[in-house]
Amino acid sequence: MEDLTVKGRAIPRIGLGTYRLTGPEGQAAIAQALALGYRHLDTARMYGNEVEVGRALRAAAVPREAVHVTTKLAVGPLTRDWVRDSARASLRDLGLDHVDLLLVHWPDPDTPLEETLAALTELVEEGVTAAIGVSNFPPSWVRRATALADLLTNQVEYHPFLGQEALLAEAERDGHALTAYSPVARGRVEEDPTLQAIAAEVGRTLGQVALRWLMQQPRVLAIPRSASSARLRDNLAVGEFALDEEQMARISALDRGLRLIQGGRVDWER
Ligand SMILES: NC(=O)c1ccc[n+]([C@@H]2O[C@H](COP(=O)([O-])OP(=O)(O)OC[C@H]3O[C@@H](n4cnc5c(N)ncnc54)[C@H](OP(=O)(O)O)[C@@H]3O)[C@@H](O)[C@H]2O)c1
Repeated sequence: MEDLTVKGRAIPRIGLGTYRLTGPEGQAAIAQALALGYRHLDTARMYGNEVEVGRALRAAAVPREAVHVTTKLAVGPLTRDWVRDSARASLRDLGLDHVDLLLVHWPDPDTPLEETLAALTELVEEGVTAAIGVSNFPPSWVRRATALADLLTNQVEYHPFLGQEALLAEAERDGHALTAYSPVARGRVEEDPTLQAIAAEVGRTLGQVALRWLMQQPRVLAIPRSASSARLRDNLAVGEFALDEEQMARISALDRGLRLIQGGRVDWER
């Protein structure tokens, strides 16, 4: 499927989430994803697998510049020193001279956002990362952040059971992307009767229907994780079919505010 162009940068719309893809098995899954055609990888200091991501990337028959690599700052006090140390450690572990996108993993209410974003912007100027963004930022934080720095994305939990209207509106206003994490609700999409019915209508899997619903929204990227070769393939193949307006609306109506990932110390609604 076609890349999404965000602020002049083309990003593959489906990336590989790599949370829990650690050790030799994790590395093998990442390598397999690259062999299947994934060109967008999502990792983080917190996942403890930047070494595996870097090894899989170097071993792949794919030029480095063909792959969009995102990582995230270590979670902690996001001071200038912390930001710089975390970025340096990421490059060391990944074995790369730069990443394509560096995100704040979770907001830190104890450090001025100005300091964190200025430190990240410096890293762009120094070529450590091509772009920066945030993750788990609620609307009021996004508004402040976009006034301070040029953000490529806000990465948040987004799937059929958790709507993100306010954050999509912020993305539209500023021109950044919304990256959907846990896009198949960690497998829970499989239990939903509406998704089951739509999957039967279009002859696709439930996971594919959930991902296709995300892909038919402008500005949305998704980073499903899988260690299964069949699902890795399925998740990348969501450009091969389409949902009609009525199917899109039935899926949008499944929003029940289901948040699978709890964390941080911010008010999600504001
Ligand atoms: N920024 C953040 O704070 C944050 C938080 C959470 C996640 N993330 C990122 O987002 C990525 C994805 O989120 P996630 O790992 O939480 O959840 P997810 O991608 O929604 O779900 C992964 C789980 O669902 C299964 N699965 C994958 N594709 C499927 C499909 N088509 N149908 C049914 N089941 C499927 C996988 O099992 P198999 O391996 O057996 O296929 C795995 O157990 C993470 O890996 C990470 O990179 C970021």
